[in-house]
Amino acid sequence: LTLDRPDKRNAVDGPLIAAIEGFFADPTDGTRVVVLTGAGDHFCAGLDIAELKVLDAEEAQATSRAWHRTTEKIQFGALPVVAAMKGMVLGGGLEIAASTHVRVAEPSTFYQLPEVGLGIFPGGGASARVSRIVGAGRAVEMMLTARRVSADEGQALGLSHHLVGDGEGLDTAMEIAGSIAKNSPFANTTIINAVPRIADMSISDGLFAESMATALTQLSNEAQVRVKGFLDKRGGS
Ligand code: COA
Repeated sequence: LTLDRPDKRNAVDGPLIAAIEGFFADPTDGTRVVVLTGAGDHFCAGLDIAELKVLDAEEAQATSRAWHRTTEKIQFGALPVVAAMKGMVLGGGLEIAASTHVRVAEPSTFYQLPEVGLGIFPGGGASARVSRIVGAGRAVEMMLTARRVSADEGQALGLSHHLVGDGEGLDTAMEIAGSIAKNSPFANTTIINAVPRIADMSISDGLFAESMATALTQLSNEAQVRVKGFLDKRGGS
């Protein structure tokens, strides 16, 4: 899935956020994993600022909720999403990236939450998701200073999981996606849905939820077939 408004640095307007939501609400049949990237030299320059001038408070909240619906569908949908990032990952671009499951960056990548310069608060999930990745203190610092976080720092902070060479991001993301696509789809869906929720629970609640996720995946047909295949190959019982 490619954000394709390179002349606007892939800034996301209302129709584009709705199109992304539509894609993740009803992915093409047979899709097992999604690679999300941006056309041109940049991943995404965030919310389309041209739309802000016509919003009142109610409309701004509705826009924020549309972003939340979309990013929830990315993070807690059925499919793992691998982000191939380069250039700017700004504002809403970082909020979209933060809702993906595996993030690949190139040396040109930089991250920024510049909303404070416009007098607004990031409304696409930064306070909930970016803060869970980098810590609330670091998220506050990024929001207050609006500074550019480099690819190296982003890698150290967990904003990317893989930092590869110039021009190698998409190939690496496709390779990782290819490997994830070979997993059991039910195991993939359980991992992406269970882990962030369990991380928000107490340890005791989380461990119980984990045991239930384990039980459910154990019962799936694909687990039975895979375990049997493993044992048969080794002549085990
Ligand atoms: N919303 C709407 N349009 C945007 C945009 C955004 N978030 N980011 C870039 N654009 C548009 C510019 O208006 C310009 O359009 P034009 O050619 O019709 O004038 C085009 O994309 C290229 O931007 P430009 O500023 O010329 O490119 P650049 O490479 O020199 O700088 C940015 C890019 C991203 C640093 C700069 O455009 C910027 O600061 N954008 C705002 C980013 C932001 O604050 N995002 C958070 C929104 S809440």
